[in-house]
Amino acid sequence: MIKLLADKNSVLIKGLNKPIKSEINVPGDKSISHRAVMLGSIANGNSTIIDLSVSRDNLAAIAAFRKLGIKIETLEKNKIKIHGNGLYGLKEPQNIINTYNSGTLTRLISGILAGNDFFSVLSGDKYLNSRPMARIIDPLALMGAKIFGRKNNYPPLSIIGSKLHSIYYDIPMPSAQVKSCLIFAGLYADGNTVIYEKNKTRDHTERFLSLQDYPFTEEDTADGGNIINVKGGGELKPFNIEVPGDFSSAAFFIALGLLLKDSEITIKNVLLNDRRVGLINILKRMNANIAIIDYREGFEKVGTIKASYSKLSAINITEEDVPDMIDEFPIFAVIASFAEGITAVHGAKELRVKETDRIKAIVVNLNKFGIKSKEYDDGFEIEGNPDYSEQLDKLNKSDKFEVKSYGDHRIAMSMIILALLLKNKETAVNDVRCINTSFPGFFDSIRFIYFLTSA
Ligand code: S3P
Repeated sequence: MIKLLADKNSVLIKGLNKPIKSEINVPGDKSISHRAVMLGSIANGNSTIIDLSVSRDNLAAIAAFRKLGIKIETLEKNKIKIHGNGLYGLKEPQNIINTYNSGTLTRLISGILAGNDFFSVLSGDKYLNSRPMARIIDPLALMGAKIFGRKNNYPPLSIIGSKLHSIYYDIPMPSAQVKSCLIFAGLYADGNTVIYEKNKTRDHTERFLSLQDYPFTEEDTADGGNIINVKGGGELKPFNIEVPGDFSSAAFFIALGLLLKDSEITIKNVLLNDRRVGLINILKRMNANIAIIDYREGFEKVGTIKASYSKLSAINITEEDVPDMIDEFPIFAVIASFAEGITAVHGAKELRVKETDRIKAIVVNLNKFGIKSKEYDDGFEIEGNPDYSEQLDKLNKSDKFEVKSYGDHRIAMSMIILALLLKNKETAVNDVRCINTSFPGFFDSIRFIYFLTSA
């Protein structure tokens, strides 16, 4: 049972008491959809995108480029045609560009706007406007950009486009958003912009540049990092792509398949980019029964994931593991809650500046369920218990849990999955509208799961 509560922004979730064996669909990948809209808009010619994510973040990207004068046609629900107008084909927006909850949109588009000869302002919701932007303001300023933020760090950001010059930049934190912002600015710079990342992060932007025949190189470094060299003033070819399913959305159902007794969940057509599937490698180390079938490689790696009920053991996560599973920590925390032993996460300070402070949100919420958890400065610790649901059920107390999303879509979805795992218990999850940020069909999938387990 899923019940919308009176405030119309909270749901009451009843735990499942039967296994689920089914296939579940997930929407197109959010990161790829963002880049498709941005790079399609500044390509020379028309691009067609199938299975685009129509999450609120991605719709915000479409609205932003329409405001910048780009014609973007909706052909079908998840299919668009972008009439790209070249690197310098954007026009000055007449109003503020609303970036809603999207850090990716705000940071990536800044790289493009910094090189375009007009004035623009970016502003989002209260969560976005308290996320750090010095990480892009500083390197863009080194390139000669005129970009200003509140307290030199927060949106609203105002940008006066100018001539950019190339730099060498060593990114101080693992961040695909910073890397992509600088690659975008590099398209507009004189000469070659060289970006070094010590820890490799998702490479969707680089894959688009290859697809669009853009002059750039990337090279592994001896220390396990990566150097990207982008030539300014090249031409981006248009493209036609199908966006694979979002692994970060699939992760919620992978967790359900692994943790709900005797279950098996299959998710088809999921993005399996090496820099995105860190969670799968971690789960295997925890003895998860998870298989990849129908694997294929094209513009991105794609396949079907099958997750079956597993007895999991705790694990230690260290700094090197973090970038490849950066968005999966909220659902990983739920998984760790049911793994035998104490799971510790370190080197994950970036979680403090995501849509909310995810370290705090995870720990506060798990403790509300009676799952022992504590914060570290750079991570968290969870005492897992594989029999937690049964033990709670046997106590036969009629306790009701109540947790908050803190306006963070992934915290909200993770808490709903945890609530589903607690047999015969009811949990109120507050502030769930934010789920639309990345996964508009999430509640339809949950209703489908109730339907399957109600017979
Ligand atoms: C993203 C990069 C990651 C990730 C975010 C999407 C992207 O952020 O957390 O959800 O599309 O480039 P950082 O690069 O800031 O870690």
